[in-house]
Order: sequence, then structure tokens, then C-alpha cells
Amino acid sequence: MTDTEDRTGDGPATTAWDSVVPRSGETPPTDRRTSGPGSGPPVPVEDLPYEVVGRPEPPPVPNGWYAIAASADLAPGDVLSIIAVERELVVFRTESGQVSVVDAHCPHLGAHLGGGTMEGESLRCPYHGWCFDVSGACVEIPYVEGRIPARACVPAYPVREQDGMVLFWFHAGGAAPDYEVPTVDERDADGWSDAIEFRSELVASLQDMAENNVDYTHFRFVHGRAVLDASTSQFTTDGPFSTVVERFEEEGLTFTRYTWGPGLALLRVPGFMTVHTATTPIDRRHVRLLWHFYLPDATLDVADEIIDGVTGAHGLQADVPIWRDKVFRDRPLLVRGDGPVTEFRRWYQQFYAGR
Ligand code: FES
Ligand SMILES: [Fe+2]
Repeated sequence: MTDTEDRTGDGPATTAWDSVVPRSGETPPTDRRTSGPGSGPPVPVEDLPYEVVGRPEPPPVPNGWYAIAASADLAPGDVLSIIAVERELVVFRTESGQVSVVDAHCPHLGAHLGGGTMEGESLRCPYHGWCFDVSGACVEIPYVEGRIPARACVPAYPVREQDGMVLFWFHAGGAAPDYEVPTVDERDADGWSDAIEFRSELVASLQDMAENNVDYTHFRFVHGRAVLDASTSQFTTDGPFSTVVERFEEEGLTFTRYTWGPGLALLRVPGFMTVHTATTPIDRRHVRLLWHFYLPDATLDVADEIIDGVTGAHGLQADVPIWRDKVFRDRPLLVRGDGPVTEFRRWYQQFYAGR
């Protein structure tokens, strides 16, 4: 059993990742609306509720490719229940190795398919034994001979498995994928480490996290770095892809961040590291991170320091309280020097099509 699985209960297998999302009927652990003004002593800033009465909703879940699991999470015959893109989903791998992502509830009487079992190439529902293949079609009703109703299928999502991740396509309007995710050259290249994995779940809106990359002035106040300006930074776009190049003159480092739609990105710092980042919305207020670090042989012995630099107190962890407590401003008050936030938003708008 890996650290992402929990099969101790009688219900559907779950991942540690879905711990922040309550199962129906439970009180949301993050709903602390009783701790409002006047209800007691001042609340330390790190304990402030992220969801308070009157705080505006963050933007909805954007359309795109997202990681739902690492490939290694799913051996043949495994079934996982995962909440992502504001939906209950089930991911399974067949005996032959094919992966499928489907809506969690059976079209028959609504049982959660995460409690089902894999039989060869199909998933058997725990309630009355109907079987579904990787396309979501019902291929067997154990107590009925003959024709299976055409509507007996569970919605399935387009899936790709690449670079050690299982990706699925989400579109609010149900449209087919309109781009493919590039692959990571470093993964199979000589002179590079295997993927070193980092996982986390955060209270954050996906778009807020993405905007952070073009928010040049925050580097000084949040991360203690020199301020970037337009002469040391570039933001360019190409359909669903965008690229940010940032030169940190003091450190002599160039960061190039290739963003592949709203859910996946590759950060390259030549001679230093490459990070393949998957950021998946659990809902509009929570994200799940699956990041793979690839290090060249030259920096492998300082792997811990490098990873801590990106994910630790001066990196990701410094952003976390800001993302948790901020609101999303539809019309931010931007001034010269703020970085290309407006250009970024114009580009990002395409991922809300079909609403
Ligand atoms: S609810 Fe799934 S087979 Fe009946
Ligand atoms: Fe940041």
C-alpha cells in the first residue's frame, strides 16, 4: 500500500488527498463561520478562516488537462476514489494496464463505484454487480440476459498517461480536448535523476496560484528576493500555452516556466533543476499538488536544499497564507510595475469557455 491509499475502511478506497473535502453529510472541517468578529479573543492570522460570510466566490474550475493521480498510485486492479474539479470521481486500472476516470456514481441505483472491484478489464459495481469498461459502458448485468440498455453507462473522461502521471480532461461544457500536454524531456534523459515527488493540498484558488508567476513585486515581499521588472522578465502566449522567463540577476539564475493549460507546467532552471508541476483543483477553494523534481547529476547531492528552496519557507510555504486568505479581485487596482497580470488574465480567460 502506498502513502496515497487508505483501505482501512469498508467503504470505497480513498486517497489521503481527498481528506480536505468532506464526504456528504459531514460538517466541512474548514467551515469556521462561528469565529467571526466579536466571538472571542483576536484570532492569530494563521488561524483565520479562509471561508467567511461575505467573502466572494473564487473563479470556477477552468477547463483543461489535470493530473488525477501518479501512475505509481495505480497498480493493475486498483480502484481509487478521488474528489477533483468539484466532482466525485473514480479512477481504475485494468488487468491489461489501461486507466479510466469516471464519475463516481453508478447509473443504476447510484452506488459509489469506488467500492467496486476490478475484474479483468471491467469494474464491477458493489451494489448489484453491473460491470463497466474503461469507456464507462456497461458490459454486463449479471441477472439479465440479452440487450444492455444504451443509457447504462457512466460518464468517462478523456485520459492520457504520460511522465508518471495520469491526466484527465475536464470541460464544464463537455467539449472534447482541444490541446495535448507536452512531455518532459528530462524524464528519460541521461544525467538526470528519477522524479523526486512532492505532494500537498492547499486552500487556494487555482487562478490565484497561477497569477503568482507573473506577479513580479510579490517576490520581494513574500519570498525575500529582488524585485523583477519588465527588463528581466517576459510573458508570452501561444494558444493554451504560455511562457514566463525571469532572470534573477543577483543569483545569476534564469527561471523559464512553461505553462500547459491551467493544470500543468514545467519550470526549468538550467544546470540546476526542472520541476514538472501538476496542480489540480479539488474545488474552487482547494488545490492538490503533484510535483516531480528532476535534478541533473551536478546538483543531486543538494537535492534536499533545492526542493526546500522551492517548496519550503521561502518558496511555496510563503505563498500559502496569502492564497488562503486573499479574495479574487475581478477588477484589481493595478499600477505600473505590477507585472503582466492583465495580459495573463486575458490569456487565462480561454479556460472558462462553455459556461
Ligand atoms: S447501483 Fe450499481 S449495479 Fe446497482
Ligand atoms: Fe510566490
